[in-house]
Amino acid sequence: MLVGAAGAGKSTFAAQWFDDREILSSDRYREIVSGDERDQSATDEAFRLLFRDLEKRLGSSGSAAVDATNVQAFARRGLVERARAAGVPTVAIVLDLPADVVLARNAGRRDRVVPAVAVRRQLAELRRALDGAGLAAEGFDEVYLIRSAEALDDLVLLRGSAPR
Ligand code: GTP
Ligand code: MG
Repeated sequence: MLVGAAGAGKSTFAAQWFDDREILSSDRYREIVSGDERDQSATDEAFRLLFRDLEKRLGSSGSAAVDATNVQAFARRGLVERARAAGVPTVAIVLDLPADVVLARNAGRRDRVVPAVAVRRQLAELRRALDGAGLAAEGFDEVYLIRSAEALDDLVLLRGSAPR
């Protein structure tokens, strides 16, 4: 599960480290449902389809990368519960970059700039999630916090026994 505000770099990270077929992107499902990945009214149906495909993937290949903000506890819970039900370990990859980096990357996007007020709200939600007991208390098997642009640049994701 990727976790991070809009503009943090979740989709870029997913494309770099995961196979296309593993990636379940909420924006992609919004686009499928409504023809517009920005259409928030398509969210419920988009997640219904995302969950359907997640359960299929977890049941067959046992791996999936969920590309959605996941800054809200209920969103993470829904995914953790489904992975648990499938007997698949859960890994949170949290793009907890400084707010100014996230806001600048969002503002500089070519595809779709999210209103800064929404990004700030997501950053605040993420802060709340990470303060206190943090994500480890939510039942993840592994939690990786990426806290700077440099750490993101330097990161190498090793999966199973096959380093990439
Ligand atoms: P949402 O889909 O809106 O939630 O955003 P996202 O988290 O998927 O962000 P996305 O991957 O679309 O990246 C946002 C912007 O930051 C894009 O213009 C990316 O090219 C840029 N970006 C992402 N990762 C990096 C990075 O590691 N370095 C730099 N310099 N730019 C990055
Ligand atoms: Mg994205």
